[in-house]
Amino acid sequence: MDRRRIGAAALEVGAVGLGCMPMSWAYTGSRQRGEESLRTVHAALDQGSTLLDTADMYGPFTNELLVGRALKERRAEAFVSTKCGLLVGEQHIVANGRPGYVKRACDASLRRLQTETIDLYQLHRADPEVPVEETWGAMAELVAAGKVRALGLCAVGARASRREGRGLHEGTVRQLERIQQVFPVSAVEAELSVWSREALETLLPWCAARGVGFLAAMPLGNGFLTGTLTPGQGFEPDDVRARHPRFTAEMMAANQSLVVGLRRVAGRHGATPAQVALAWVLAQGSAVVPIPGAKRERWAVENAGAAAVRLTGADLAEIEALPSALGSWD
Ligand SMILES: NC(=O)c1ccc[n+]([C@@H]2O[C@H](COP(=O)([O-])OP(=O)(O)OC[C@H]3O[C@@H](n4cnc5c(N)ncnc54)[C@H](OP(=O)(O)O)[C@@H]3O)[C@@H](O)[C@H]2O)c1
Repeated sequence: MDRRRIGAAALEVGAVGLGCMPMSWAYTGSRQRGEESLRTVHAALDQGSTLLDTADMYGPFTNELLVGRALKERRAEAFVSTKCGLLVGEQHIVANGRPGYVKRACDASLRRLQTETIDLYQLHRADPEVPVEETWGAMAELVAAGKVRALGLCAVGARASRREGRGLHEGTVRQLERIQQVFPVSAVEAELSVWSREALETLLPWCAARGVGFLAAMPLGNGFLTGTLTPGQGFEPDDVRARHPRFTAEMMAANQSLVVGLRRVAGRHGATPAQVALAWVLAQGSAVVPIPGAKRERWAVENAGAAAVRLTGADLAEIEALPSALGSWD
């Protein structure tokens, strides 16, 4: 698989990564596929998908434990990205960006991941009660202590920007400007897919201009863009799609034209819609790394194959001309 360099330290990873979240969190069947998930991680590594994306709050904690188990004999082959700053409570998920907490959270992640160093440590969400510079400063100390190689930021502030009527990622860019003064940002993780292209407006250009890597979360539109979901199919209550406005039967039917368009392009390349959706993400910049989530082994293999799909200018134009997705959070 082609490799990509992210951040000022030019960390090298396989062009297509693996999102580990669905193995333990937020997707139907998440808790029933532990053993297959281990094989999925190994299959991804076999294909050259070295970047494994997890977080302490996925599970909570069980996703990191699973990644740690999977990497017991293969740590050196992987690039581990994990996150801190969100706590799962009984009723709500709350942010905690206090320096002392962040340092304890890192030690706990290292133990669960059974590793001495985290390759990329990301702030999952800034704590409104703590200046983001203080949280980031504590994370920078973890780099100095050798516990972490590089720092990243998730697309925090996105919802706040929306509430304030500004562009989706304006809040994130302002936070990035602030923390960049404290310690270099190596990567930003935010949603980017054929049906969610807002990051192309300000966030990705900000990263590209500074050599900051971009980890594209939800690059398959939570599975919709693969064409394997049926309008009206049910999701477990704790599946993120059970409340997602684009996953009502009506919106899934209305958005089928996107799948039809991806399938048309895929047919010309002997590829699948999922691979074309990922190839489109890869085409958005040389430091963009899609992290498709998968708990099934066969998906990890299929998704890695996207790195070999070369879309033409005409293919990209055809995909970009597809209708905008219907169904929004606002
Ligand atoms: N930072 C953030 O705020 C944030 C938010 C969300 C996600 N993320 C990260 O981004 C990663 C990717 O996002 P995501 O997992 O939510 O969404 P996604 O990658 O767009 O889609 C994941 C879904 O697609 C299915 N799938 C994957 N490959 C497939 C294929 N080739 N054919 C058919 N179905 C396929 C998976 O099925 P199975 O589950 O059955 O395998 C899963 O249900 C996550 O794993 C997580 O690491 C970050």
